[in-house]
Formats: sequence, C-alpha cells, structure tokens
Amino acid sequence: MKGQWWKESTVYQIYPRSFMDSNGDGIGDLQGIISKLDYLKKLGIDVIWLSPVYQSPNDDNGYDISDYKNIMDEFGTMDDWEELLNELHLRDMKLIMDLVVNHSSDEHAWFIEAKKSKETPYRDYYIWRKGENGREPNNWGSNFGGSAWEYDENSGEYFLHLFSKKQPDLNWENPALRQEVYDMMQWWLDKGIDGFRMDVINFISKEDGLPDDEVKPGKKYASGSKYYRNGPRIHEYLQEMNEKVLSHYDVMTVGEMPGVKPEMARDYTGEDRNELNMVFQFEHVSLDNGPGGKWDLKPLDLSDLKKSLTKWQTELEETGWNSLYFNNHDQPRSVSRFGNDGEYRKESAKMLATLLHMMKGTPYVYQGEEIGMTNVEFPGIGDYRDIETLNYFRESTEAGVPAGKAMESIYAKGRDNARTPMQWNSSENAGFTTGTPWIGINPNFSDINAAEALEDKNSIFYYYQDLIRLRKEHDIIVYGKYELILEEDPAIFAYTRTLGSQVLVVLCNFYGNTRKLALPEELKEIKYSWLTGNYGSEGREDIVPQQLKPYEAIVLIGEK
Ligand code: NOJ
Repeated sequence: MKGQWWKESTVYQIYPRSFMDSNGDGIGDLQGIISKLDYLKKLGIDVIWLSPVYQSPNDDNGYDISDYKNIMDEFGTMDDWEELLNELHLRDMKLIMDLVVNHSSDEHAWFIEAKKSKETPYRDYYIWRKGENGREPNNWGSNFGGSAWEYDENSGEYFLHLFSKKQPDLNWENPALRQEVYDMMQWWLDKGIDGFRMDVINFISKEDGLPDDEVKPGKKYASGSKYYRNGPRIHEYLQEMNEKVLSHYDVMTVGEMPGVKPEMARDYTGEDRNELNMVFQFEHVSLDNGPGGKWDLKPLDLSDLKKSLTKWQTELEETGWNSLYFNNHDQPRSVSRFGNDGEYRKESAKMLATLLHMMKGTPYVYQGEEIGMTNVEFPGIGDYRDIETLNYFRESTEAGVPAGKAMESIYAKGRDNARTPMQWNSSENAGFTTGTPWIGINPNFSDINAAEALEDKNSIFYYYQDLIRLRKEHDIIVYGKYELILEEDPAIFAYTRTLGSQVLVVLCNFYGNTRKLALPEELKEIKYSWLTGNYGSEGREDIVPQQLKPYEAIVLIGEK
C-alpha cells in the first residue's frame, strides 16, 4: 500500500463556536483557537479540521453558508484566519476546511437572486419544482424534521432542502454551479490550506424525477434518502472536482457520507478512482439506533460493533482507506455512549481510544475527547440550542411522546452533547469565556478539564499523546493488516495487526468487571513486549495477560 502523509496523520476537529472565546462575547473564535495551538501541538496533532467559519446566519451553526469567501463576524476576520493558517504551518501542522456544498444558506447571494425571478441564471443553482395538486412536489422529509420542500409565494414553486428550510439544496446538475464551487475551492487552496472535509457530499446527485419514497407506518413523510444518497452522477461529479481542482494540490480529502457501504467506499476512495482519500461512514455510530432511528434508543451490542468495524477494516484492506472516529460535533460523547462516564471514566475513555487508534485508517479526535468530556443533561429543552434537537422535541411532543421520554433521547443522542464548551480549567465558565457562553457549560468542568489533565501524568490527555506518538513510531499501526481475534468473546474486543514478521495484539475489555482471557494458540508462541495499556505496566508479572481488569486495554508487539 502506498505511503501518504494523510495516512500517517492524526486529525483534531475544532468546532469553533465551542472551542475558545478570546473576546468575551461568549462565542468561540479564531484568536481563541490560535491561543490553544501549543496545546494541540503538545498532544501531537498533525492536522486540524475546522468546522465552518464562513459567513452564516447560523441556523445550523455555520453549516448554512451565506458567503463562502468571508469569515463569520463572530469568529473574527480574514486576517485572523490567515494568522491561524500561518501559525499552524509554523508549527508544522496542517489545516483542512469544511466544504459545505450540498446546500447553501437561503441568505447566500445566489439564493437571494434565485428567489427574485425565474429568469435569472441563479434560479437553476437550486432545485425548484411545481407542487402536485396543491401539495409538495414529492413526499420526502427533511433530515431536520418536516417536509423537504418549502413553498415560495413569489414564484408559486417549491425549493428542495434536505436540511432546514434555511439550507436550500444546490443543483449540481447545473455546470455553472459546479464551476462556481470548483473556483471557490481553488481560491481556498491557493491560500495554502491542506484539504477539505466535505459535508454530506454523497447527497449532491439526486435521482432523476425525484420520485416519491415509501412512507413508513406512523410517519408523515418518507425518507427519500435512497434517491439522493450516492446518486446516479455522484462519481462523475467527484471525478470532475478531482480533475479540475484537487489533483493540482497535495491535499487530503474526507467525504462525510451517511449510508455509505464498504463497497461504495472503495469506489469513492480507491487510489485509481481519483475521487477522495477517505470517507466518514456511519454504520458504527448507528448500531445503538432502534427501528425508529436515532432518537429510538437501543443499547449497543458489542458483537455488532465488532462485526461492523471488522467489516470496514477488512473490506478496505487492499483498496481505499478508512477514517477512524467515535466523536464529532454531531455525535454524543463516546465515553458516555460506549464507555462508562462514572466510576471508570478515565479507564473507559482510554480503552475506546486504544481500540480506535490501533486500527488501520486515519484517526480523528474531536475537541474534549482527549480529556474525556462527557454528555450533558440540561434541565429543560430551553437550555438546548441545536436545530435538530429543538425540532425533534417539538414534533415528537406534538405527536404525543411524553416530554420526559423525548428528553431521555436528547440526553443520549442530542448533538449539543458534543457542543458544550471545551473545558479548559476549573475557573468560571471552564476558562472558555469571560462572558456568557452561547450554550451552557457541562457542570462537571471543575473535575474534568484540560488544566487538570495536563497536571496528571496518568491523564487521558497523556494517554492520547502516547497513542499518537506510537502511530508515528510504528509503521505497523499505520499499514499493518487487521484481523479480529476472540470473535466469540462477549466482553473483549481484540484484534491483531500484522506487517511482515511483526505482530501487534490489541485487547480491550468493554465492561466494568474483570474478564478471563486466553490468546489463540498461534499467538501464544510469540515473544511480546508491552507497547501501551491504560493500567500501566508496573507490577505486571506476565506480558501476556491472563485476564483484563474493568475497561482494561493492552497493546503488545512481537515478532513471529
Ligand atoms: C452534516 C454536518 O456534520 C451537520 O452538523 C450538519 O447539520 C449537516 N451536515 C447539514 O450541513
């Protein structure tokens, strides 16, 4: 497999609104980020992925862009952004920007023009249709609730919005629109950025005729997703984007792709395909969804997680490349979701990190993950800010779901779990702002914060630092072949990586009690050294353990 810098890197995602506020307005900003770059360098981070910092009315916190070439006032200026890029490069770190081009904001100049008349060339930058018998053009629902269509009085037509009605979908069928996007990408690349994370990029090609989909029992709208995910022209568009723009730069790309399957991911990321470097797939973060979807809570079955991650590791072994993540700004905190955020918070956060960082692919760390930040339970819906969460609460309670039950779902799955401000220290507002934060701080900040972690040599922070360093020191962690072991064990997720005669053994206990462990025969013969583990190596008699402590993780390395 070909060596590439983006295969050997660890990425850190910053959600700017919640990272660090430098001017006391309660909202994180670019100068705030600059003030924390040494912290990220100390962690060992190679690449920063910055969630959107462009001009936006913030219906969806920057994922609704009204000007792709300007910085959001609340975050600072273009000079601040240039300074950020420069400071990153001085530290030998790279910057990838969020590219949100499935939709724009309804306040983007293109849409404002498009709404004015049917005659302007901008009209066709968006997806307009006449209604059917006084109803929407089809029965698709928006990903944020309600219909995916909004009626425009002025023209008597509807426009498509797969997200909020302030996020109209762009019409990729139109070559002029595509060229605008490519020019804009080139403009940022010429400023010196190192790549893009592409928002729901597998949604940009829609099935001809936008057909109706089946409405499931109890639902008002159909999903429609089978007609817009991985649509008919998606590979053509990505190859065109690659040929016209990406191939001219040494950059990394990661496409966010809900609903993508491994065989599709091979087409998106195979080296000879000239599309993207890697995708964010969603299978492993959907295993705790019940039949009703994300808000329908279901406990994680460890064997499902083993099967899913193993499938992705195996199927992208020869062709393509994986991204490795448990957290981002849309997902609940992994230590609360898959670990134990009480008694074993530190152990389980380190165990989950071990599991992920020893796999094959590019690891992503989401802000606060490296200090084991947890989910939050704010007292009432009025404390929440996320549009998806607020819409869910309104629609579900109107449909008769008791408010308490809806709140349980929000506590477990709401996106604001990931969006409470970064906990820097135990001073007021966790050191995030001197003003009033735009969203509440998790009350556990006096115990869980970066300053405390930096003081404690056994902290989650230093454990991540170690995992990131090990990846740089051992090619086997980047390029070794993955194989699941102890497949039937109900509590232990274990696997090997192999490169030449070297073997890496990764052992993770997913539960809060001690578990017996016996390595498979063929692995017993090998002489191992201890690489890392969340209980340390002191006082250990045998390198190969006979049992794992609660949430214990151990990594061994040996020669065959
Ligand atoms: C995916 C982003 O990660 C999410 O935060 C956003 O709401 C939607 N795409 C729409 O842009």
